[in-house]
Amino acid sequence: KLSSSNNMDNLQQLLSEIFEAAIKSAFPDLPDPPVVIALSGNNVKFGDYQCNSALPIANILKQSGQKCPPKDIANKIVAHVSPSPMIEKLEVAGAGFINVFLSKTYVTEKLSLILKNGIQPPLCDKQRVLVDFSSPNVAKEMHVGHLRSTIIGDSVSRLLEFLGHHVIRINHVGDWGTQFGMLIAHLQDMFPDYQQKSPPISDLQAFYRESKTRFDEDPEFKKRAYACVVKLQAHEPSYLQAWNLICDVSRKEFQKVYERLGVKITERGESFYQKLMEEIVKELEQKGFLEEDEGRKIMWGEEGVGIPLTIVKSDGGFTYDTSDMAAIKHRLEEDKADWIIYITDAGQGTHFENIWKCAERAGILNRKVHRVDHIGFGVVLGEDKKKLKTRSGDTIRLCDLLDEGLRRALDKLKDKNRHQVLTAEELKKAQESVAYGCIKYADLSHNLNNDYIFSFDKMLEDKGNTAVYLLYAYTRICSIARNANYTPEKVKELINAVSISLDHEKEWKLGKVLLRFPDVLVKITQDLLLHHLCEYLYEVAVSFTEFYDSCYCIEKDSSGDIIKVDDSRILLTEVTAMIMAKCFHLLGLNPVSKM
Ligand code: ARG
Repeated sequence: KLSSSNNMDNLQQLLSEIFEAAIKSAFPDLPDPPVVIALSGNNVKFGDYQCNSALPIANILKQSGQKCPPKDIANKIVAHVSPSPMIEKLEVAGAGFINVFLSKTYVTEKLSLILKNGIQPPLCDKQRVLVDFSSPNVAKEMHVGHLRSTIIGDSVSRLLEFLGHHVIRINHVGDWGTQFGMLIAHLQDMFPDYQQKSPPISDLQAFYRESKTRFDEDPEFKKRAYACVVKLQAHEPSYLQAWNLICDVSRKEFQKVYERLGVKITERGESFYQKLMEEIVKELEQKGFLEEDEGRKIMWGEEGVGIPLTIVKSDGGFTYDTSDMAAIKHRLEEDKADWIIYITDAGQGTHFENIWKCAERAGILNRKVHRVDHIGFGVVLGEDKKKLKTRSGDTIRLCDLLDEGLRRALDKLKDKNRHQVLTAEELKKAQESVAYGCIKYADLSHNLNNDYIFSFDKMLEDKGNTAVYLLYAYTRICSIARNANYTPEKVKELINAVSISLDHEKEWKLGKVLLRFPDVLVKITQDLLLHHLCEYLYEVAVSFTEFYDSCYCIEKDSSGDIIKVDDSRILLTEVTAMIMAKCFHLLGLNPVSKM
């Protein structure tokens, strides 16, 4: 494995393997030796990585009555590490930490391979992963919570796709349920000829509100709404048509948002599971999992613990729970998913835990074989730290939010006088890149478990870990070769002719940061927290700036003429740009080469 020609080795993983072998041969009697590899801190004295296994091993030995100082254990492990091209030297420090210093030759060679072959994903077991994200509800406006789900889901999918997994992106749209009764009844009144010509509903949210008011205030209307649900569920053609028309209006709205954000997703809403819901209810009933409760049929994830799922309502109708039970069965058995990831607000965490427990009880899900995750994110707050709302207190429409982003991004570019330098087309590209980029990045760069404050002012700042800073840093990096009058062809030639040298301390540091990219990706597949990638991207940009400030790439004389170009550094610049571009891509950002 060590001689793997893959240019993007997961260093942390490789070191774990090396140390695991060393520990096993140094302590053959330890059944399950702990292998702990971490990044060393910022102090170069401590090397690049650290193996912290000596202390836990000392504890295990102590329990079996053997006294052995961790420092001795560390030395013994070091003596058993077989030579590796990755490792320059090992040092035991402090109470028994083993500091690992990477080899310069190894790092240099890996960087050259990236230049030659592009960035290959680190090796991993390929799986079928179903990502359930975005999932807005028909006739209710897609709100900022769905925006978060859309942004996070798209990025998670991009990352898993890059790693080579088979990703199925599913939009579990809320397109079935009792709200359609009142919507259809209202449609019949407002647009009696809907069967002949498409109703011109422009504002579906207003339409929803109108029907809701009538539903709440007019008992006659309410009765009719219920009757409509029954007819819809009996698949009466004119009711199905009305339902379809309403879904279509929503669908077009959603699609506009996806197109603007560059998000690909397949719609498979709750209505898709109509038949499957009937089947799963039968199955659960036959297996004796359903319990009567005041006319409802419920199922416990764990008898008497928490709250049960409502599988059938007292009026015989199905619920959100029913559709998720049908969905998980379909996903595991028909889609053959190995791994399902659901992305919603954190409030739905217990719902999914419940679904999984019930699915396990019913023999549909086996968590020893399948992996299921819920990425539950915090609430989007306004600058007043209250739930994000418009001034008048309404929920913010996503398209309005995106429009404001575009306006603000343009202002920002004009502040920097970019409109005088860029062509109209370049300016438009830069505007979209900044607007959508800053909205996505602000979301992804925060730990998603926390609530986050939506502030255009903050996200458009050009200092710190923001999209604007990074997008600018990237364009600057891309322009360095251009400023040296190097054509892309010339750079290609260099790749084969020149080897990168990492002699300067800042070059060396940057080179090592670049090779950490796969470590970060692997970590994210474990905890699904995308802010690690943003922090890493920022670290790359900062390390690059440090390098660029202390190492010249292009030397000019007083009249501005180029006297010397450092080819090795141009190449280091190129790898940096490649890694940054890949990070942007995984985060769903579109950097532009000029802005
Ligand atoms: N439509 C739901 C909502 O807006 C989210 C659906 C998430 N996916 C699922 N399989 N339940 O809250």
